[in-house]
Amino acid sequence: MKIVILTGAGISAESGISTFRDTDGLWNNHNVQDVATLEGYHRNPDIVRGFYSDLRTKVSNASPNAAHYAVAKLQKSGHDVTLVTQNIDDLHEEAGSPSVLHMHGSLDKVRCDLCNEKHLYLETLNRACPFCGGQTFRPDVVWFGEQPYHLTEIDSDIRKCNMFISIGTSGNVYPAAGFAKLAVKKMGYTIEFNTSLSENSRYFKERILGKAGETFPVWVDKFIETTKCSN
Ligand code: OAD
Repeated sequence: MKIVILTGAGISAESGISTFRDTDGLWNNHNVQDVATLEGYHRNPDIVRGFYSDLRTKVSNASPNAAHYAVAKLQKSGHDVTLVTQNIDDLHEEAGSPSVLHMHGSLDKVRCDLCNEKHLYLETLNRACPFCGGQTFRPDVVWFGEQPYHLTEIDSDIRKCNMFISIGTSGNVYPAAGFAKLAVKKMGYTIEFNTSLSENSRYFKERILGKAGETFPVWVDKFIETTKCSN
């Protein structure tokens, strides 16, 4: 079966990483305009670098939870699974996911301010960009007003998928918030895993409420068992 999974901050909540919009979420404690826009970065690059560097430290001390492992299990089960995440942490990779499309970028990379070339975060701490000699780097994170990554591939996979699964995303940020509607239009079965109904829950045929670390592994085991002979 062709499956597309979209994950959001909620899947990493049980690993101790703050979501954005829940009570005490990152956007309740930080001004989005300051830390998640190009204008904010140009105004004060040190604040922005500090914000993502703190986040990177939190993520490096976190471990994947049962939901991340269940996603990886489904990817390895013989089904054709595209994993798309809005998260900039690397917990899917740590849980063993064989491929991850980071549509909002990743904390593990930076981009050269001058030539836009990407580098691993650690490579750049004490050196200039080897491509252009530029000395400053911005986080390789997609900010508000910027184009998310991998959109052509994601759009094409959603149009072909039989099932679209959303885990832990509030449905507030486009284009990701529009994926469920597209999947439904293309006759895919749609399922949402969330602690509460998301903004676009009307586009989900099935809604499973609860913590993803508790609900999703149970669902995956049952799904793999019932689809064993029909892969
Ligand atoms: P949000 O913070 O908007 O939403 C998190 C969702 O996870 C909410 O719907 C919660 O109900 C749900 N949730 C919380 N804990 C959960 C749990 N244990 N199990 C299941 N669900 C749970 O985060 P996103 O939707 O990921 O973009 O936010 C989308 C984008 O907005 C982010 O990628 C980021 C942000 O601005 C950029 O920075 C570009």
